[in-house]
Amino acid sequence: MGIKAILPSRPLRSPRVLIAAAVGVLGVVTAVIVPTTPAGAAASTLGAAAAQSGRYFGTAISAGKLGDSQYTTIAGREFNMVTAENEMKIDATEPNRGQFNFANGDRVYNWAVQNGKRVRGHTLAWHGQQPGWMQSLSGSSLRQAMIDHINGVMAHYKGKIYAWDVVNEAYADSGGGRRDSNLQRTGNDWIEVAFRTARAADPAAKLCYNDYNIDNWSWAKTQAVYNMVRDFKQRGVPIDCVGLQSHFNSGSPYNSNYRTTISSFAALGVDVQITELDIQGASPQTYAAVVNDCLAVARCAGITVWGVRDQDSWRSGDTPLLFSGGNKKPAYDAVLNALNAASPGPDPTPTPTPTPTPTPTPTPVPDGCAATITTTNSWQGGFQSTVTVQAGGTAISAWTVQWTWPGGQSISSLWNGQQSVSGSSVTVRNAAYNGSIAAGGSTTFGFTANGTAATPTATCTSP
Ligand code: G3I
Repeated sequence: MGIKAILPSRPLRSPRVLIAAAVGVLGVVTAVIVPTTPAGAAASTLGAAAAQSGRYFGTAISAGKLGDSQYTTIAGREFNMVTAENEMKIDATEPNRGQFNFANGDRVYNWAVQNGKRVRGHTLAWHGQQPGWMQSLSGSSLRQAMIDHINGVMAHYKGKIYAWDVVNEAYADSGGGRRDSNLQRTGNDWIEVAFRTARAADPAAKLCYNDYNIDNWSWAKTQAVYNMVRDFKQRGVPIDCVGLQSHFNSGSPYNSNYRTTISSFAALGVDVQITELDIQGASPQTYAAVVNDCLAVARCAGITVWGVRDQDSWRSGDTPLLFSGGNKKPAYDAVLNALNAASPGPDPTPTPTPTPTPTPTPTPVPDGCAATITTTNSWQGGFQSTVTVQAGGTAISAWTVQWTWPGGQSISSLWNGQQSVSGSSVTVRNAAYNGSIAAGGSTTFGFTANGTAATPTATCTSP
């Protein structure tokens, strides 16, 4: 690893920065005396050091270890963001269909909040760690179960979660396509349905797509996820962040194009969160490079390491974390020094303007509003639609869309709107957050429905 990889992206400005860089170059990592700067003393914990530039530094926490005082002492002191390692996953939170269990999720959540930390939610829709009942479902039944699961879990934690990994690991390891799974076989739109459902369930949470091996910009999987996020942003599918898991090892090593990956995702208009960082062997230089790459991009919001001590790691044999027993490893000092070298506040580097969202152009609307129903997916016995609501020549502050089903269809789940049904007549009013539309602008809501796909004419009124 050359000097270039560990230098901060901005000019070195203070003795503190110079020493931090020297630490990285020489590998001298213990008992470093860091001089103070006019801005104040260097922070002495990872969370406080990250907070100086408005970022967080988190860890995965396991409920079963909350009785281990060495574990809770380190975690309580060092980190200011927490992800439940397994306790908010599908098998843990909905062990039987429709029966939710938040006992262990709440243990992790409560420990975090009681110790002044925020919480990332992990994870709502995933092929892994599905309970047996979900593994045996398929088609529209599984699609509905996914929607119900997202609604059930997000309702429990509504307003409490900083960011949810809404969908986890949906792309294949090679080739740039989707991973085959029971969820994928419900239809290619399962990811966007999950995101729309999540937005409606908790509008306050940031919604992330999370995956591994999307760290190297030249890999097909990275490009595939990038294209999905770009498509979502262009079509108005609600997505706020991309989680780079960043499990680095000999088969998937850190690459210096990581910064390009982070800045490229950020340029799409999403935050980037490093969500499950661990590095085989815990090279201090590589840890510092990862931190500096995040610090170089304003929208890299924070870093989470996947466990506290090496013994807590899912890959403990790789000794990939920042602590060994109760001791700080050289990688810890490298990370702390890199964080302390960051300039305060958001990085001034301008983020490229995201591609403007193209608006569908239904029939011209002189005033008031118009609504158009489009079928986006269908399967035996069900379908999914998007309804575009467009304002006319003047801005509107509320809207109501109405239509009549032609053949006994019924809505099973609706997002971004409030529905009331009377026989075959459906009325949808705006949700609290999407009633206002600028002149000529538009918004969308969506639903899944039972029956044969239909696109009845819809009317739109605004007060
Ligand atoms: O709790 C049971 C225990 O009762 C039982 O005796 C034991 C026997 O196998 O299993 C224990 O459960 C294990 C659980 O971790 C808790 O330790 C599961 O078998 C094991 O499969 C599970 O592994 C987790 C893995 O996800 C499963 O997919 C890891 O802890 C967890 O770190 C890992 O995390 C994932 C992220 O969610 C997504 N990205 C990759 C990351 C690493 O694989």
